[in-house]
Amino acid sequence: MVKRSGGALLRGIYIDRQSAVPIYRQLDAALRRLILDGTLRSSQKLPSTRELASDLGVSRITVKSVYEQLLAEGYVQAKTGSGTYVTEALKLEQTPKLTRKKGAILDRNVPLPPRAAPILSSHASARHGATDPFRPGVPALDLFPVKLWNKFVQEASFDADRHYLSYGEVQGSEALRNSIAKHLTDARGLDVEPDEIVITSGAQQAFVLIALVLLSRGDTVWYENPGHIAGRDIMQMMGARVAPVPIDAEGMDLEFAVRQHPKPRMIFTTPSHQQPLGTTMSLARRLALLDYAKMNDAWIIEDDYDSEFRYRGRPLPALSALDSERRVFYVGTFSKSMFAAIRLGYVVVPRNMVETFARAKTLLGQGTSAVTEKAMSDFMENGRFVEHIRRMRRIYRERRDRLFECLVRDCDGLLTPQPTDAGMHMLAWLPRGMDDQAAHRILLDDGIDSLPLSVYSIGAPDRAALVLGFSGVSEKKTPRLVKRMSETLRTHF
Ligand SMILES: Cc1ncc(COP(=O)(O)O)c(C=O)c1O
Repeated sequence: MVKRSGGALLRGIYIDRQSAVPIYRQLDAALRRLILDGTLRSSQKLPSTRELASDLGVSRITVKSVYEQLLAEGYVQAKTGSGTYVTEALKLEQTPKLTRKKGAILDRNVPLPPRAAPILSSHASARHGATDPFRPGVPALDLFPVKLWNKFVQEASFDADRHYLSYGEVQGSEALRNSIAKHLTDARGLDVEPDEIVITSGAQQAFVLIALVLLSRGDTVWYENPGHIAGRDIMQMMGARVAPVPIDAEGMDLEFAVRQHPKPRMIFTTPSHQQPLGTTMSLARRLALLDYAKMNDAWIIEDDYDSEFRYRGRPLPALSALDSERRVFYVGTFSKSMFAAIRLGYVVVPRNMVETFARAKTLLGQGTSAVTEKAMSDFMENGRFVEHIRRMRRIYRERRDRLFECLVRDCDGLLTPQPTDAGMHMLAWLPRGMDDQAAHRILLDDGIDSLPLSVYSIGAPDRAALVLGFSGVSEKKTPRLVKRMSETLRTHF
């Protein structure tokens, strides 16, 4: 039953007794609305609590508590012995009368400032983290030891003095930095001390921090083309001039870059496993790149996002292992080796910049959780991390082989897979003239994910291809999915 106030002034007040919204909330909202839209004008007297209560058939206590709330917030004023009035000289923005649905926020078309345009046009955020099969970069979530991991998280949360429920160290916990330093020395050949590491909420936060601290508007950043999307877009958004550098058989084409884009301030590269083409940078190119950076006072960002997964020979040491003067910001992430929701990564920075990076991280909202950091360092110290990586390496190799076989067998002339010795994705070339974004969309409508090569590129790439993630798809499911992929593409092209 809806009861409406009888007084001419308060005709806009409806009380719905069937509603789940309590009566005092309904009355409170109605009075605010009448004041804000100017129906009740500045200095106008409100009915007495007795009058309004009887009018609406609600208790006087309810009306009183609503008036008190409005008084506390400054909507109304009480005049002793006289009553309650809408606050004098209340400068109200005249919101349009109630043409909108009750309770709905007015859908105003708010203009965005020009600096927001590149945020919307970035391909980075679109469906990031989706888990449809063959989405690149998704680990084998089906095989992640969730129960075991939860034990570590639980232990961290329940420690006796509740230490880890606080903010934690901004630079990241010493224990985790110790574990990471050991891991980097053993697995990546880096000579690094724990106090040179800043823990971040993933590789992307490391890129944001580096850009924030080191880049000025107009600085040139050499960026692999095609290359990692979110890193590129953040550099652009921070005002850098992103200079695309093609990839040849040995990695970033240094000669081209020197010729076309002299004086870079920063160089962004994925030497272990080029994202997305899969090339490993040769030793000669690594040395030349480091030498160039040294001679020209440029910084290098080494994004070592999936180096844990190498299927032939031993993993190559990181580019940073060849750097004798901390010119390279080595960036790592647990998004691939563990799972993306962990939001943990790290960056190795020159010692004298650590404090600046930590403060910048505070300004960005810190982003990492002390509980997760503690769980991760215990997971590493107990040998679980290395064990998990070893297991995943074996599984990903099998998953890679299965996808490759199936593509060769079922997608002849449609998708030509490129062999890869590392990582979690492979490239599959489309026939010349085919639009990779269209192929991606058609497959996506059918529940099969991928990323078109063109979204990684500045300018049109020479050939169209799909980037297919194999790590997240079980060997059992792959044959059926690839058959479907082939049928879908054949019906459309
Ligand atoms: C090449 C590369 N670098 C860095 C990242 C960033 O990962 P995160 O911020 O989750 O650590 C990704 C994620 O997809 C990636 O593919």
